[in-house]
Amino acid sequence: MSQDVLTPARISEIHKEAGRRRTFAVISHPDAGKSTLTEALALHAKVIGTAGASSGKANRRETVSDWMQMEKDRGISISSAALQFSYRDTVINLLDTPGHADFSEDTYRVLAAVDCAVMLVDAAKGLETQTMKLFEVCKQRNLPIITVINKWDRPGLDALALMDEITERTGLQPMPLTWAVGISGDFRGVWDLRNDRFARFQRNNAGAQIAITDYFTPEEAAEDQGSNWSDAVDEAGLVIESNLEFDVDAFHAGQATPILFSSAALNFGVKELLDALVDFAPPASPRPDVDGNPRPVGSPFSGFVFKVQAGMNKAHRDHVAFIRVCSGVFERGMVVTQTRTGKSFATKYAQQVFGREREVIDEAYPGDVVGLVNASSLRVGDSLFLEEAVEYPAIPLFAPEHFQVARSKDPSKFKQFRRGIEQLEHEGVIQLLRSDLRGDQAPVLAAVGPMQFEVVEDRMAHDFSAPMRLERLPYSLARITTADAMPALANVPGAEVLLRSDGEYLALFNDVWALRRIEKNHPDLTLVPIGTHN
Ligand code: G4P
Repeated sequence: MSQDVLTPARISEIHKEAGRRRTFAVISHPDAGKSTLTEALALHAKVIGTAGASSGKANRRETVSDWMQMEKDRGISISSAALQFSYRDTVINLLDTPGHADFSEDTYRVLAAVDCAVMLVDAAKGLETQTMKLFEVCKQRNLPIITVINKWDRPGLDALALMDEITERTGLQPMPLTWAVGISGDFRGVWDLRNDRFARFQRNNAGAQIAITDYFTPEEAAEDQGSNWSDAVDEAGLVIESNLEFDVDAFHAGQATPILFSSAALNFGVKELLDALVDFAPPASPRPDVDGNPRPVGSPFSGFVFKVQAGMNKAHRDHVAFIRVCSGVFERGMVVTQTRTGKSFATKYAQQVFGREREVIDEAYPGDVVGLVNASSLRVGDSLFLEEAVEYPAIPLFAPEHFQVARSKDPSKFKQFRRGIEQLEHEGVIQLLRSDLRGDQAPVLAAVGPMQFEVVEDRMAHDFSAPMRLERLPYSLARITTADAMPALANVPGAEVLLRSDGEYLALFNDVWALRRIEKNHPDLTLVPIGTHN
């Protein structure tokens, strides 16, 4: 259908489609079970078939992304894309995020493209370092979070202690939607508080199929489970008493977090999570532009690039830009405008990509993710639109902690070297810093995690035929500063000022002591922390 005229009927259809979208990401500290849960969710929605009959890393590589040799070698997932499936007349868009903390910048960018996050907590470990960083990023984005306490089939912490930890460390009020029956290590099922019933789980074929669930009334549950049941009711009652009855507004406002219990490996509690997403997670809604004006979902197509991925298909050396649709309807073949350059972009090759699975996409609605192939002119953060111009806010760059100088191994290949580095910077693989002092030949690469440098080295050698050398710099800390800091700190040991490609001046310091010394000696300088998110 052509979009030349968005008829009232078409606009109302777009509203309806946006209203039934749930776009979210599962995030967690590594090893909490994110990949296992992703497969279990997909299994429930019958996308994959027999999700990870396995749930082990070795088998998982068959179902989750294996785009780069490095991922295979390390058994980690570096790339992000989206898995779409329908559940109860709702279209679920599950955006994949890398499991390794070194690629957390990639995860943070995905969080710019979702409407809700599912935070997975390992029942035995509670809130871990990366869990806390991710909570922080969600908070800064006002992103509603559903918390899932996973691995309840294994001995772990006490449920009430976990609730206290969440309240104290994240400031979010826990609002149980389900409560575990049986202590961790003895998972019998959950009290489904909304329906006031006991969902009893049964192990089924090592988790290779959807778990069988029987439902009991509270009276039946008391008889069936005895003290396990009464303990669960008492504990959940305590949490509700000291916090909130379930309040969807407090969840959407990022003040409270619905709580669910699961064993992703056994597919326990997964259906309950899907139901919570359908019933409570926010649908795709008007997204504010750079000036803070929300663009109605029923206006002509618009979206933004949250991820660029190259080399996903070695045979084709392709380059895919992932767009989150914000308004209107995307139709394959439409010619859209790139806000940054004002240039037209033909969307002939639009795909849905998840791991190795690709499908041509013909239409997409607000909340959906479209992969545009051969999109090397698109950068992370770019806005695209049809008819009515829009610019969405830039996706913030995160605080780098690792810095290396890059040089071309072969000086005669400097042109390829420069092109490659710039391209990787546009894709968000690395941040790029320069100074007159260091010159053009030796830019500084900045990363949140050191493995990002390995990706750069690999891509430079294989995709750009420009092998390079890297030399580690001693800095571990960055602050946003101003141009006058560059001469002021030119000869100061333990510090250096460089210009990042987004126009920000970054002051780098060996360590916190070097920073303190300089703050003391140069009280006039602006040195603003970047945090995880500026
Ligand atoms: P991640 O993506 O968050 O890094 O976690 P992943 O799914 O890879 O899970 C990490 C390990 O935890 C996996 O074990 C997985 O089987 C296990 N796991 C995930 N969810 C559950 C759960 O609900 N219960 C239990 N008991 N285990 C769970 P693995 O990689 O196969 O290693 P191993 O445990 O077999 O040694």
